[in-house]
Amino acid sequence: MRPETKADHWEVEALYDTCFAPGREALSSYRLRDGIPPVAGLSYVARDADGILAGAIRYWPIHIGAVDALLLGPVAVHPTRQGEGLGGMLIESSLSQALPLGWTRVMLVGDAPYYERFGFTLLEHVVMPPPTNPARVLGRALVEGAWDGIEGDVRRWTD
Ligand SMILES: CC(C)(COP(=O)(O)OP(=O)(O)OC[C@H]1O[C@@H](n2cnc3c(N)ncnc32)[C@H](O)[C@@H]1OP(=O)(O)O)[C@@H](O)C(=O)NCCC(=O)NCCS
Repeated sequence: MRPETKADHWEVEALYDTCFAPGREALSSYRLRDGIPPVAGLSYVARDADGILAGAIRYWPIHIGAVDALLLGPVAVHPTRQGEGLGGMLIESSLSQALPLGWTRVMLVGDAPYYERFGFTLLEHVVMPPPTNPARVLGRALVEGAWDGIEGDVRRWTD
């Protein structure tokens, strides 16, 4: 596992195309990413001993009301390498770098049964742009209480 570089970019895009349903870029979370660079220092790739890309993770900055947060994702592991713990490794290793970079809270849109093992819980008062299933809006505090009292619409970093 190592930080993503420019040379990895299109290979990571191809991995995401493989792992997600067609039209992934129509998801509302992509509207929060359009034209905004991912957070420097938090994008990682996992390659096997032959250099073959097995997994990748990226993060974007967002606003909710007056506060900042990380939007985790996309994270994906190639179908031939799923179930080996790579997804968990990508999530935990990258998040361990987030607090030193000054981030105190992280959210995502995903399956609670997967992400709850990493300490993500429902963010009842945080609203993603439609169409998003509110039951998939999850968050994790990187310092205790970082999500307490946070409510409102998720907005693009540049808005
Ligand atoms: C989700 C994903 C990143 C997990 O990567 P991974 O390397 O297989 O994950 P891990 O090895 O850390 O964990 C595997 C465990 O998670 C479970 N799991 C995987 N996806 C899950 C899901 N959507 N819901 C519930 N459990 C899930 C597996 O059943 C397995 O369970 P087990 O430990 O009890 O056997 C990978 O399956 C993937 O790329 N999926 C397609 C893209 C995607 O959905 N990305 C997430 C967007 S929200």
